[in-house]
Amino acid sequence: MPIAIVGAGVMGSEIAWTGAAAGRDVLLIDAAPEALAAAREHVDAITARRRAKGRLETEEAASIRARITTAGDTAAVSGCDTIVEAVTERMDVKRAVFAALGRHADEGALLASNTSGLSISELGTAAGRPGRTVGLHFFNPASVMPLVEVIRGRETTDDAQAEAMALARALGKTPVGVRECPGFLVNRILTRAMAAAYRVTETSGSSPASADAAIVAAGPAPMGPFALGNLVGLDTLSFLLRDLEAAYGERFAQGSALPELVAAGSLGQKTGVGFALADQAPRDRGASAAAEAFYAAAQDEAELCRDEQVAAADDIDLAMRLGAGWERGPLEGRAS
Ligand SMILES: NC(=O)c1ccc[n+]([C@@H]2O[C@H](COP(=O)([O-])OP(=O)(O)OC[C@H]3O[C@@H](n4cnc5c(N)ncnc54)[C@H](O)[C@@H]3O)[C@@H](O)[C@H]2O)c1
Repeated sequence: MPIAIVGAGVMGSEIAWTGAAAGRDVLLIDAAPEALAAAREHVDAITARRRAKGRLETEEAASIRARITTAGDTAAVSGCDTIVEAVTERMDVKRAVFAALGRHADEGALLASNTSGLSISELGTAAGRPGRTVGLHFFNPASVMPLVEVIRGRETTDDAQAEAMALARALGKTPVGVRECPGFLVNRILTRAMAAAYRVTETSGSSPASADAAIVAAGPAPMGPFALGNLVGLDTLSFLLRDLEAAYGERFAQGSALPELVAAGSLGQKTGVGFALADQAPRDRGASAAAEAFYAAAQDEAELCRDEQVAAADDIDLAMRLGAGWERGPLEGRAS
């Protein structure tokens, strides 16, 4: 039976490629015909890149293309055993999609959402199938990144969670089981650390460039929080931190520089202006303080996730290695 993917944007097209490359038939659905056309181009571009690197045979490249079919209406999901929703990150939009899935999906189908942080429980309720609804949080680009957080909503059944873990493995990914909480796992730990570094850099008068350099030099993060913010998009990051501060309190406070940049329309790489990283200021004491704050915050949030049983300690470390590229996890070598 095919996997249906609803939403053929950045993530939907990457997940479609991943499914087809793993040998599954994929039905890619989007309300916008131009999104489906762009998704096909994107799928072909991933295949072409792999071919150029010698990682795909010609016949395999042709089969990947042939395994993906498209449709414009969510009703087409009937006959699919698994549905992965990857539409715009807005609860009203996703609720409408899940309500349609509740009407059209086969009785036993697994309903999965690729949401970065919206409530899986609420989506399950919108579908009228909370037991069969899970989060399947791929990382970008999904064709490359090995981690999938499998998010368990309040009413997700053991069977549905196990099926989602098995599906992620069958797609060649490493799943980590996560109990639903705001920010899920990797983004929760990482953005808490980023916010801490932003605040300390402001109060110490250090520069983003020197703070980033100190954080990378101290390891295990491969990229500093200012460069990462520019890459993710400062608006996306600022909204996420605002939501997480509302959920968890001021340990997620983002300081003043980030919202000021967003208000000025400086959103990082996508606008070409963001945190200034060009100046190579010599490393100062403020930068060391930012590094200490960054890693202390990551460790503290990881311990909270472990203690709240959001995920097992080993899985927290694995998720930070595979999802955030850390050389070692924040709990590695620490007593549990
Ligand atoms: N972009 C990332 O880095 C990233 C990483 C992990 C998870 N996610 C999550 O993946 C999801 C998709 O994100 P994206 O970046 O691919 O978004 P996107 O804007 O690139 O794509 C969303 C697609 O959904 C389609 N869509 C909207 N409403 C629809 C409907 N009712 N029916 C069918 N199609 C509909 C749009 O036409 C669009 O093509 C979001 O939940 C996002 O939080 C994104």
